Amino acid sequence: MTDTFDNRFRSAWAGEVRPEQAGEDLRVAGWVHRRRDHGGLIFIDLRDREGILQLVVHPEHASTAHEAAKALRAEDVISVSGKLVEREEGTVNPDLPTGEVELEVASFDLLADAQTPPFQVDEDEPVSEELRLRYRYLDLRKPRMAEAIVLRHRVTSTIRRYFEKAGFLEVETPMLTRSTPEGARDYLVPNRRQPGTWYALPQSPQLFKQLLMMGGLERYFQIVRCFRDEDFRADRQPEFTQLDVEMSFVEEDDVMAVCDALMPEVLALGGIELGGPIERIPYDEALLRYGTDRPDRRIAIEIEDLGQVFASSTFKVFSAALEGGGVVRGMSATGEFPRSRFDALTEKAQSIGAKGLVWGVVEADGWRSPVAKFLSEEEIAGLIAATGAEVGDAILVVADEPATAARVLGELRLDVGVPREGHDLLWVTDFPMFDWNSDERRYDALHHPFTAPSGDLDADPGAWRSRAYDLVWNGTELGGGSIRINTPDVQSKVFAALGMSEEQAREQFGFLLEALTYGTPPHGGIAFGIDRMVALLGGRSSIRDVIAFPKAASGADPLTGAPAGVDDRQLRELGLRYA
Ligand code: AMO
Ligand code: AMP
Repeated sequence: MTDTFDNRFRSAWAGEVRPEQAGEDLRVAGWVHRRRDHGGLIFIDLRDREGILQLVVHPEHASTAHEAAKALRAEDVISVSGKLVEREEGTVNPDLPTGEVELEVASFDLLADAQTPPFQVDEDEPVSEELRLRYRYLDLRKPRMAEAIVLRHRVTSTIRRYFEKAGFLEVETPMLTRSTPEGARDYLVPNRRQPGTWYALPQSPQLFKQLLMMGGLERYFQIVRCFRDEDFRADRQPEFTQLDVEMSFVEEDDVMAVCDALMPEVLALGGIELGGPIERIPYDEALLRYGTDRPDRRIAIEIEDLGQVFASSTFKVFSAALEGGGVVRGMSATGEFPRSRFDALTEKAQSIGAKGLVWGVVEADGWRSPVAKFLSEEEIAGLIAATGAEVGDAILVVADEPATAARVLGELRLDVGVPREGHDLLWVTDFPMFDWNSDERRYDALHHPFTAPSGDLDADPGAWRSRAYDLVWNGTELGGGSIRINTPDVQSKVFAALGMSEEQAREQFGFLLEALTYGTPPHGGIAFGIDRMVALLGGRSSIRDVIAFPKAASGADPLTGAPAGVDDRQLRELGLRYA
């Protein structure tokens, strides 16, 4: 039960009254959800944050209230006094927690009236997202939206309790700062005091949390806003919230253990139980078996290497790939596979970089495929055995360099696979340190440049591994972290591998390189996307549905009209002009 702060407006939450209270005199307050005139009786569904309660107004017992209730409209705000009574048999509403009772109205006050809203505050009516965001305060009145906000609150309070108990300090870090590279564009803030200089809004508190470890604070966490100017998706917002964590004197296992113990508490808030510990799989294996570093293992399909099967194939698509150091990989899928579906899959494969797609359906006596004639019986038998295909299943095969084959089959796997019910969490570990950026002909950090590399640092950086780990939930990257570099020489080596000159490194990260010289403990941490966490827990398809005031897909906020122009004087003060 939530404290009502019993006062002249309410003595109980409308959504929380229960049959045991029948016979009590109560005051409730909220919004008119719906009003129905039934000849003599008027029924009103009254809505507050906790739910809905039916009010009934009798023309004889409460004639003044009855007369006034005739004029009530949806979203009017009222405070009502009356007696809670049990509903007559046959009028009980099993869909409402308050459905066994109703409030017999003695009197009510109209506290504020509402004009006709642009959409009904009702779950069932489809409303465009633009309109929902333009009138977000109406949208938030929907019970399902309120539920998401309540769930979000419970997630952050559970997290705070957990870290408090584990001896972590919640420390705030600056919003007006220098660029921290997390792979996106920065949001910049002009500095009036020195035109031409800029703050950047943090893409994450990465460097500050490391500086806190250098500052001897040992265990830090923060629930913190991050800003990234990047392309939108259902699971990305330009400003979003991280649970950010950092610890000193730890290795990978220590950080992961903290998360392993936290996750069941978070999952319980969504009624989700994990069957056992969160499994770990190395990056290379994830790419091989699922074609991605964030696998959704609820889809039963696994990708198989077919190099052995086609080792001496005369089919030139396969032989050319294998001779050129590439791979042949494939998978089977169950379902309906008319020709048009294979054409669509081929088109999709090509749009993400494949040269083509070999496909066919397994039949009792072989494999019906346009390329079957190029393959020996033995190869076809090997293909069916390796992919575990049954009669009626499709088999898809890609021949290419390993990264392309993985990417293409990984995407097609999501297309042809159907996830089973339930949830899948796993750790992906042992990432490569760098990604080759062929456009710019240099390495990019796969995580960020402060991640500790492992392996032989005298070898080519392309072969370096990193001490990073990601937590993946149902195919979404929920969190990522690493053990960090704690010496200036390794940090300089990584900057150099990223193509930075010593001068550039000093210019951008001199403060970090300097801090590293004053005794930096081994340290590491992780950050989780809180928005993604709540969306997954609450079964919402977009993180916009778990953020009180999100941006629309355009990046704009239709409610406030941000981003908006500013007046010329402000620009002059900042020393800015449009080009
Ligand atoms: P990373 O960049 O992987 O790591 O971010 C951590 C988590 O933040 C969430 N996330 C987002 N959520 C919504 N909208 C976005 N635009 C967005 N971008 C990221 C994801 C992601 O897993 N400093 C490192 C962490 C560390 O090394 O400790 C970092 O920020 O759920
Ligand atoms: P081609 O010899 O190019 O006519 O290709 C014969 C078949 O193999 C076509 O169905 C192509 O889509 C397919 N194909 C071509 N290249 C590849 C490849 N690298 N991987 C998988 N299938 C391919």
